[in-house]
Amino acid sequence: MRVVVITGTTRGLGRALLEALHGTRNHVIAISRKTIAEQVDMSNVSFIIHDLSKPHALIEQCKFLEILEILPGETSEICFINNAAVVGQLGDIGTLTQESILRTFNINVISPMLISNELMRTARQLSCQFKIIHIGTGAAHRAIAGLSLYCSSKSAIDMFYKVAFEEGVEACSVDPGVMDTRMQQEIRNNYDPSFPMYEYFTDLQARGELKDPNDVARDLLMQYDLL
Ligand SMILES: NC(=O)c1ccc[n+]([C@@H]2O[C@H](COP(=O)([O-])OP(=O)(O)OC[C@H]3O[C@@H](n4cnc5c(N)ncnc54)[C@H](OP(=O)(O)O)[C@@H]3O)[C@@H](O)[C@H]2O)c1
Repeated sequence: MRVVVITGTTRGLGRALLEALHGTRNHVIAISRKTIAEQVDMSNVSFIIHDLSKPHALIEQCKFLEILEILPGETSEICFINNAAVVGQLGDIGTLTQESILRTFNINVISPMLISNELMRTARQLSCQFKIIHIGTGAAHRAIAGLSLYCSSKSAIDMFYKVAFEEGVEACSVDPGVMDTRMQQEIRNNYDPSFPMYEYFTDLQARGELKDPNDVARDLLMQYDLL
């Protein structure tokens, strides 16, 4: 049996991935900081409730081996979809709060590193296959004024997975494109109109060019043979 671990399943792309995987032959471990109403009916899903901005207690909370041991089938493959991320505080460097810098890196970088490391250790213990699908972004490779925390944190975690790939792990980064989710809403609402990219973000929505996260989720799961 394949076990798919996904972070950030309450909304946006993560929720679309969870809903698409519900009822499939995979077992899903969803890591989120809140519960969602539908989860009571999700028989092939285990939920871990954890706030990824608090990485200290994360590994005590993520007892992957214990969860896998009580599943009915033997785990042959673990696939980690690193989805949860925040755009963080928007604005010039020099105006950022210490709290927002630490929080963004805890969610976008430190927590996924801890989870990946722990899952890889678990996969080795169980002698099963391990794969990482990182939800990346063009912003990891492009410096966008006002988005320093998002660009730099997504770039850092992208590099971590590149190194994992060099070490022989089946790790890849997927850019989902610009989607109609809360993250885009936050950028439109909080981005300073004087920044050069402001119109890019507002025009995409005005022209109806934002992708539906449900379509992105289905395409991604089909591409990686997870449905
Ligand atoms: N939207 C885009 O246009 C776009 C473009 C390129 C790449 N991406 C990437 O796509 C991925 C998904 O983005 P999205 O647009 O679906 O974002 P979203 O709608 O803002 O959803 C983010 C998810 O992350 C979770 N999350 C945030 N902070 C958390 C925390 N402290 N602990 C646990 N979970 C937390 C949220 O849960 P809560 O409900 O608890 O906050 C939510 O489930 C991200 O990696 C993003 O970088 C997005």
